[in-house]
Amino acid sequence: MRLLVIGLLSALIGASLIAPIQNAPMDGDQSLVVSSTEAVPEKENGKEGKPVAKIPSVPQIYEMHIRSDIKNRFSHTTVTSKVRNFADKAQEAVFNIVLPETAYISGFIMEVDGKNYTAYVKEKEEAKREYDQAISSGQSAAHVAVSARDSNRFTVSVNIEPAKKAAFYLSYEQLLNRQDGRYEQVVNIHPGQPVKDLSVEVVIVESRKLINLNAPPLRSGNEIDTSNKELDPRADIEKLNDTAAIVRFTPNLERQKQLAHVFGTKEDDGLAGQFIVQYDVERDPSGGEVLVQDGYFVHFFAPADLKPLPKQVVFILDTSGSMWGQKIQQLKEAMLKILDQLNEQDSFNLVEFNSNTRIWDLNNHSNSEWYPHSNNYWYSETNQRVVNLENGSFPRAYSANADNIKKAKDAVNALQSDGSTDMYKGLEVGLHLIEVERTDKNNKVKRQPIIIFLTDGEPTDYSTEIITTKTSEFNSGPRKAPIFALSFGEGADKTFLQKLSLRNNGFSRHIYEAADASLQLQDFYKQISSPLLSDVTFKYEPTITSLTKTDFPIHFGGSEIVIAGWCGTVTPIPTIDGFGREGHISLKPVVSKSISNVERLWAYLTISQLLEQKEAMEDKKEELKKKALEIALKYEFVTAVSSLVVVKPNETKPVDTEEAKKKPEQLHYHPLTTTITSNKFSAQSAIASGFGGAVAGFPSMPSQSFGLAFESPLPMPGVAISQESDIDALFEARPTMIPIVNTTTKSTLEVLLESLEWLKDVLTDGFVKGPTGTYKLGVNETISDVVVCAKTPLNQEGHCTLLHECPQVHKLLQKADDFFNHMCILKNEFAGVCCPNNP
Ligand SMILES: *[C@@H]1O[C@H](CO)[C@@H](O)[C@H](O)[C@H]1NC(C)=O
Ligand SMILES: *[C@@H]1O[C@H](CO)[C@@H](O)[C@H](O)[C@H]1NC(C)=O
Ligand SMILES: *[C@@H]1O[C@H](CO)[C@@H](O)[C@H](O)[C@H]1NC(C)=O
Ligand SMILES: *[C@@H]1O[C@H](CO)[C@@H](O)[C@H](O)[C@H]1NC(C)=O
Ligand SMILES: *[C@@H]1O[C@H](CO)[C@@H](O)[C@H](O)[C@H]1NC(C)=O
Ligand SMILES: *[C@@H]1O[C@H](CO)[C@@H](O)[C@H](O)[C@H]1NC(C)=O
Ligand SMILES: *[C@@H]1O[C@H](CO)[C@@H](O)[C@H](O)[C@H]1NC(C)=O
Repeated sequence: MRLLVIGLLSALIGASLIAPIQNAPMDGDQSLVVSSTEAVPEKENGKEGKPVAKIPSVPQIYEMHIRSDIKNRFSHTTVTSKVRNFADKAQEAVFNIVLPETAYISGFIMEVDGKNYTAYVKEKEEAKREYDQAISSGQSAAHVAVSARDSNRFTVSVNIEPAKKAAFYLSYEQLLNRQDGRYEQVVNIHPGQPVKDLSVEVVIVESRKLINLNAPPLRSGNEIDTSNKELDPRADIEKLNDTAAIVRFTPNLERQKQLAHVFGTKEDDGLAGQFIVQYDVERDPSGGEVLVQDGYFVHFFAPADLKPLPKQVVFILDTSGSMWGQKIQQLKEAMLKILDQLNEQDSFNLVEFNSNTRIWDLNNHSNSEWYPHSNNYWYSETNQRVVNLENGSFPRAYSANADNIKKAKDAVNALQSDGSTDMYKGLEVGLHLIEVERTDKNNKVKRQPIIIFLTDGEPTDYSTEIITTKTSEFNSGPRKAPIFALSFGEGADKTFLQKLSLRNNGFSRHIYEAADASLQLQDFYKQISSPLLSDVTFKYEPTITSLTKTDFPIHFGGSEIVIAGWCGTVTPIPTIDGFGREGHISLKPVVSKSISNVERLWAYLTISQLLEQKEAMEDKKEELKKKALEIALKYEFVTAVSSLVVVKPNETKPVDTEEAKKKPEQLHYHPLTTTITSNKFSAQSAIASGFGGAVAGFPSMPSQSFGLAFESPLPMPGVAISQESDIDALFEARPTMIPIVNTTTKSTLEVLLESLEWLKDVLTDGFVKGPTGTYKLGVNETISDVVVCAKTPLNQEGHCTLLHECPQVHKLLQKADDFFNHMCILKNEFAGVCCPNNP
């Protein structure tokens, strides 16, 4: 209950006012992995990680093989996990995989008792109805999600009969993103127990020479690499030739326990960490490389020989009350390092905002004026000087010379947290500072503007929608400057900041509230510290279609632009234009035949970009979603718009959810778990909470039942949802990946007859005979008339619907009279039921 209260507080009030709560020690980010066994009640018999008896209390994983095949940066990973139940009673095996946030699941097979159940990808439909039905059957359970940063989780459990085996095969795909001059394949390992035969194999084949191939120390997944020598994976790196290599990691039982020890986890929980392979490829001189195969092409562009553009960086930093304590210390620490990395040719400004906004005057701190709030009702002060952008005396950008950097550091050290979170003024002032420099004809050097906007809370001046709209309007046309938004900690509204950035030519990152926050900030800065080109455009032959994005406002050093499309038999030789340090440049790529099929890479990239656009755009959402769905279904990718379907013979039902509708920013994370048991189907809503507290496991499942859960991106400590009252909230959550379980087309009538045993007694040829007359049941109808009725089975006011359209009350209709008591008539001919209004 306490979690719930905190969660709602944080959602409603915004982080600014609840700093002490946010600093509570139970930080979800700390508790990586070892989740698989949490859901299994038997586990609790164990004491201090010592096995209870010789016979293991959970089915044993005797083999876990993970293999990634990377071709042209596109990686396909298969996880195979084989388990055996050594006990003399049926036990639940939980297959729990953490996969990178940017990966799409592309296949899942469950082998039980020698039989394969193959999942397939399907559109989400009918989900809410089924879900409501499930909830009305009264099943619910809570479950604390565990995490690794920037990851998703996939969980399936299955009951295994005594002495029987099961196997899980999961595959997922992803385009490796070049950052900091290298690609990184991250493989999460967390079987939840030591595994006798554990291996990871990463096979890389590229078309250009591999360079800097290495396997750095294992990571916990929840903090930035600290290069702990003890965590050296001792990987076997085998170079097959210049362009291909295999990297193997095969820790034996003893080594797994040792590593668990280094990570500070229980030996008996086995290894829980990330195995990483990094590499880069040799670049051709400039225009990049176009690879063609089977009518599709991919273009990799990462020019190696360009000098960085001079830049004007405006730091807009949240110093509201909630930043108090560790967070502002970490921000200061990071800023001191970041300031050191500015180049002499750069310029910068330091802006802070809380209830008001201040632009630091580095030459005379006491001259740094506080500009009043834009729309802040909570902290209004009366004796403020009123200025607007035209008549305020704003300091100009400071050149990044040693003297100014030193002064800026003094200013950073003087930052104090206090007040509310008046975001818009901060953004407006920051954008104004850039505009002043851009339009000053005396400026000889043209600098690439960059806005770094950091906040840990929700705005207290305007709604997030208004801020996004106002900022995007203000920041448009030739003045448009990229905004990179950083959400710091769990109180920040990630969704809003993502949208704000995407609509303003930038991207956003989440900074996890943890000991390494300062390192995370520096890491982020590194990504954008070196703009090489601005306004990069790729022009292909007109016959080339299905192109992914071709315009890029900035290209940063260390990253890579990837474009894919359909070229048929035409050889794509685009012209690449952009503005570098020496002015306009025009480049041509080299073209060759690809060593692999690039069609899936194209599909992956297209879906990712469509989904991203969908997040950023106000209009065309449906159209973008439809397009993304089409491709996701064709290529069988599980994404935010498609779901995985697990087929089980005889009895299955669709379960899925719709897309977010309202208040998404208050609800960060909503895993759902569904369970299919014999012919009945129940769903468990999970409490989204990163607080790491103990929560009940799954109810025990009868043999041959299985559950399937997908979870949306990272759990957010501080946001909790109760199961019963916030069912709708669960459906407003984004992005959900809830399973559909295939139905062997059961008719609406069959479903009704199954859940309402009395129905057959009062039904004749589709007509219900009630005390007041005979009416149609209307199983094939949908009636959208809004008819208010007085008495739902829960005794509230509701609206009249057909019986099949109100599954949530079925459980309350135990006998025919229950129905007749709440019956209402639709269109003078249909028997409806008084259905609760959604809150
Ligand atoms: C089930 O599928 C896996 C993965 O494709 C395969 O290795 C295994 O042999 C299959 N098992 C059966 C019983 O068909
Ligand atoms: C390098 O080895 C890989 C994998 O064996 C192979 O596919 C590729 O053709 C080889 N490349 C060259 C240039 O020999
Ligand atoms: C610094 O600014 C304050 C307030 O505007 C002013 O009173 C003071 O004279 C300034 N100091 C210097 C050295 O310019
Ligand atoms: C700036 O302009 C606003 C509105 O035009 C006015 O109210 C305010 O007094 C002006 N401030 C200064 C310092 O001139
Ligand atoms: C379920 O399917 C299996 C084989 O597909 C069949 O043998 C069995 O009779 C079916 N059970 C029911 C209840 O229909
Ligand atoms: C459900 O699964 C069966 C195979 O068990 C398949 O033939 C059928 O097409 C699936 N139904 C739907 C609606 O996808
Ligand atoms: C509803 O539709 C099904 C399938 O089209 C049909 O078999 C059935 O007779 C219809 N029921 C009624 C009451 O119209």
